[in-house]
Amino acid sequence: MRAIRPPRGNGDRDRRAPTRAPGTPTIDPAGSWSGRRIPAGAWPGIARTAPASPYGWRRPDSWTGSRAPDPRPQEAEMKIVVVGGTGLIGSRLVEELRARGHEAVPASPSSGVDALTGEGLPDALAGADAVADVSKGRSFEADAAMRFFTTVTRNLLAAERDAGVRHHVALSIVGVDRVPGSGHYRAKVAQEKLVEESGTPYTIVRATQFFEFIRTIAEAAADRGGIRLPPALVQPVAAADVVAAVADVVTGPPVGGIVEVAGPQAYPLDELARTALAAWGDQRTVYTDPHARYFGAELGERALVPEEGRARLGGTPFARWLRPG
Ligand SMILES: NC(=O)c1ccc[n+]([C@@H]2O[C@H](COP(=O)([O-])OP(=O)(O)OC[C@H]3O[C@@H](n4cnc5c(N)ncnc54)[C@H](OP(=O)(O)O)[C@@H]3O)[C@@H](O)[C@H]2O)c1
Repeated sequence: MRAIRPPRGNGDRDRRAPTRAPGTPTIDPAGSWSGRRIPAGAWPGIARTAPASPYGWRRPDSWTGSRAPDPRPQEAEMKIVVVGGTGLIGSRLVEELRARGHEAVPASPSSGVDALTGEGLPDALAGADAVADVSKGRSFEADAAMRFFTTVTRNLLAAERDAGVRHHVALSIVGVDRVPGSGHYRAKVAQEKLVEESGTPYTIVRATQFFEFIRTIAEAAADRGGIRLPPALVQPVAAADVVAAVADVVTGPPVGGIVEVAGPQAYPLDELARTALAAWGDQRTVYTDPHARYFGAELGERALVPEEGRARLGGTPFARWLRPG
């Protein structure tokens, strides 16, 4: 801890009209969104092992963005190492933490630190108060992902012990343990388990799919000139809102459990992709297929959405992100 500073402010099965369970939300043709809003839950949203109110403070329900004033009275400047600090979330997290007055150190191969081999870790972690692991390997393939997440996590936890780091934060995925058919998700579950069993004070932040990831989802579902996706519900979230949540968590005390972050509304995945592709001028048809695979796995209808009232909800609506201004 350093100086105290003042507060700052599948197949041809279904090429016809999609089947939809009663009550599932819809997106109208004009692209505006309607549907079931999942009520805002208490923050932090905590699952499994966490105590009731670890922070002793709570963001107002009206909180909507990354620049809302922090209600905590004072915050000490911290050294925080952001593993994967050059990626989508990581680079913004470094920026956000610096804007809050902390020393944020990006640690990734392109900044000279390789958490897979351990190269550069001791130097990067020296004097660090907390580590946020938002790294990801290049491959979604099951064995590669398992190797990446388990090796990186073991290396980080060992180096953190040596350096006396007091809080390990790992970014994971809402519903990660509800999609056993996905090798990538199994690897994230293994990552979580290593963190939980490490003895290091920790917080796992589970986020839903980032808006920025929807293009990747659609491309992964490309099939014979179209896109084939199931109508499983997703509740995507802006990367900026995830960054704000991770920043709050890593600058706070360890929860010893899981907090969840999601977007403001849930939608069927096929409709989400249809709306996004239309906005991007992509002419491809999105086919609704309940058995279409999501990165190799079948999805249950609610596998990827948080349980009601569990998650902190980001304030950025998908429609606004898609068509800013
Ligand atoms: N995509 C989603 O919708 C979603 C949803 C929930 C949770 N998540 C989780 O969020 C996290 C961040 O995702 P993202 O989209 O921001 O990832 P990303 O943009 O692909 O960035 C990955 C980062 O990991 C770094 N990295 C790769 N190999 C490394 C190594 N050996 N040692 C240290 N760093 C390494 C990369 O560094 P270089 O730039 O040097 O290669 C990069 O900075 C991931 O853990 C992911 O599982 C994602």
